[in-house]
Amino acid sequence: MDRILIRGGRPLEGEIVIGGAKNAALPLLAAGLLTDERLLLSNVPALADIATMSELLAQHGIAVEPAGADGRSLSLGGAIRSTEAPYDIVRKMRASVLVLGPLLARAGEARVSLPGGCAIGTRPVDLHLKGLEQMGAVIALEGGYINARVPDGRLRGAAIVLALPSVGATENLMLAASLAEGETSIANAAREPEITDLAACLCAMGARITGIGTDRLVIEGVPRLHGAAHRIVADRIETGTYACAAAIAGGSLLLRHARLDHMAALARVLHEAGIEVEAEADGVRIRRRNGLRGVDAMTEPYPGFPTDMQAQFMALMAVAEGAAMLTETIFENRFMHVPELNRMGARINVHGASAIVRGVAQLSGAPVMATDLRASVSLILAGLAARGETMVSRVYHLDRGYEAVERKLAACGADIERI
Ligand code: UD1
Repeated sequence: MDRILIRGGRPLEGEIVIGGAKNAALPLLAAGLLTDERLLLSNVPALADIATMSELLAQHGIAVEPAGADGRSLSLGGAIRSTEAPYDIVRKMRASVLVLGPLLARAGEARVSLPGGCAIGTRPVDLHLKGLEQMGAVIALEGGYINARVPDGRLRGAAIVLALPSVGATENLMLAASLAEGETSIANAAREPEITDLAACLCAMGARITGIGTDRLVIEGVPRLHGAAHRIVADRIETGTYACAAAIAGGSLLLRHARLDHMAALARVLHEAGIEVEAEADGVRIRRRNGLRGVDAMTEPYPGFPTDMQAQFMALMAVAEGAAMLTETIFENRFMHVPELNRMGARINVHGASAIVRGVAQLSGAPVMATDLRASVSLILAGLAARGETMVSRVYHLDRGYEAVERKLAACGADIERI
């Protein structure tokens, strides 16, 4: 099994190209189920999760093929052949549940394995199901599967109020509503840039959506959607991760294609911590000139501080001067990186939903283990700043969401290799 070896202590200088957002690409692939015509997606990141979603679409009858010479475009097309999303694929990736809304809208039935728990908490899908039921779906949970059908044949519009602004539920319901009969409103909708990106692509396919970027989406269903071409938005979490890399290792990085407007909350705390964050012509420049200061942060739905940046920011705070309190409000069990960071000499205590990070002058390299996607990259960041060697094992988590992380960092001067 692959591991990543880092010898810490080298500053980063240079440029890193930020890829398309994984969390935008996954619902965009699910949108391929909404039409028989060709959907062309460009700026698709080469990641294990994208391969998993492509495999799932193929199982439903939608072929996902490389298009164009850049290796970053996918062409989707085909008719729905099967409405079953089997356990073997869904268990690999929770976002598989995003096929539920499109299958119901298009085929009037779906049988999707329940994603179940995962490393960062219980993560139910009740909001997805409730919303679809309001739209006329009849849903039963049987033998670990969501069995859903639409007795009227076509979903109908509904006034949905989400109990909390779930990203996945907003996406699933928006996908379904675009082909429903009549108007659907989604109040307390999530507003993440990935949702805006999905809405833009659906509109290009002929969907009628207003309120994009706000917490109230209104979707006027249409009988059919057509093909389109869509370029996937830059990954704000990959951007934030490399921003933290430059901040922890020192030096200066240009993050090409990054969008500062999509990372305002993170930019604010980085700035408070003493890091320069500036927009440049086609990207964002991150520079660390002086020491780091401890800063508190609390995860919140967008436009708040992202839960997907909490682990990376904690690694940074582990070597800041003073203390930082990091509070996790989105997922109940998202501090698994804490014991691993502590093995590297960090001083972090968890009290309920908050972690107190007391900065230390230096971390020391150690063998550590990745437990989930963002936790694993936080250990790599810690390794960049640590004295000596850090060996991160179980890096398959990393490959789900980061493309060539070791190559991108090595090209900017880090001593890092995959073994
Ligand atoms: C998405 C992202 C993930 C990110 C998360 C929060 C993708 C593929 N994944 O996950 O990287 O960490 O947003 O920004 O885009 N909840 C319910 N019932 C539901 C749905 C969610 O109670 O039906 C709860 C969850 O348990 C969690 C909170 O809502 O506590 C937020 O989850 P949600 O926004 O749905 O996250 P995901 O879409 O799974």
